Amino acid sequence: MQISLQHQVALITGASSGLGFGAAKALADAGAAVVINYNSHAEPAETLAAQIRDNGGKAQAIKADVSNEDEVQALFKQTVDTFGALDILLANSGLQRDAATVDMTLEDWNTVIQVNLTGQFLCARAALRQFAEQGPRPWVSRALGKIIHMSSVHQVIPWAGHANYAASKGGVDLLMRSIAQEVGAQHIRVNSIAPGAIRTAINAKVTDGEDGGRKLLELIPYGRIGEVEDVANAVVWLASDLSDYVHGTTLFIDGGMSLYPGFQNNG
Ligand code: BGC
Repeated sequence: MQISLQHQVALITGASSGLGFGAAKALADAGAAVVINYNSHAEPAETLAAQIRDNGGKAQAIKADVSNEDEVQALFKQTVDTFGALDILLANSGLQRDAATVDMTLEDWNTVIQVNLTGQFLCARAALRQFAEQGPRPWVSRALGKIIHMSSVHQVIPWAGHANYAASKGGVDLLMRSIAQEVGAQHIRVNSIAPGAIRTAINAKVTDGEDGGRKLLELIPYGRIGEVEDVANAVVWLASDLSDYVHGTTLFIDGGMSLYPGFQNNG
């Protein structure tokens, strides 16, 4: 099935690498104009934007720290100044600062909460304001706008050594569902994607480490590590009208990681 996002504008935060990078590419392939937000790595974001433009698409790389209110405001303003509207937000920026809780510094706690949770709030709020201001665009979508939050299987799976990260993703779940309940009547669709173990550069140590990811595979009933495209395909679908009745839900893309695989032969 061919999904077209022609004449729609998508903003993807944290798109200079990994899932955000893959999603930006896929959204552009589906015909959307894309804003490729980055914070510290300009080069891959600019290169991707240039590639999309060379292929006849529309793309712009824009720097902003999603945990900074003023920078988020500027990011959304620049998006609308450049492409005239906003139809899709993929709130994807996220990071980890791992430590056992007894050793975790307040700075590591705050950094993760500020980027992963406050950043998603700030971007969702800016998107809601923009959707309301521009009004319906029925020639591009049945929805007034679409917000996709990038969560994680760790919105439900506790993760020792990563309490800040798991707390931030648990927060994203109730943030998403509360916003969805609040704005459904305005025809704004709000959902989350919860990836499991995906083969990205950041995850290389666990997915391609010394044991070739064998230990990780014990946690994945479907028996393979996820690829960036597995997530990007779902982003395109959730952004499109094919999922027009999907609202306030989390799509787990994890090969079954959230099925408690430890209980397969036990319990
Ligand atoms: C994390 C990955 C991890 C995966 C499964 C994701 O949210 O970012 O580092 O491999 O969850 O545990």
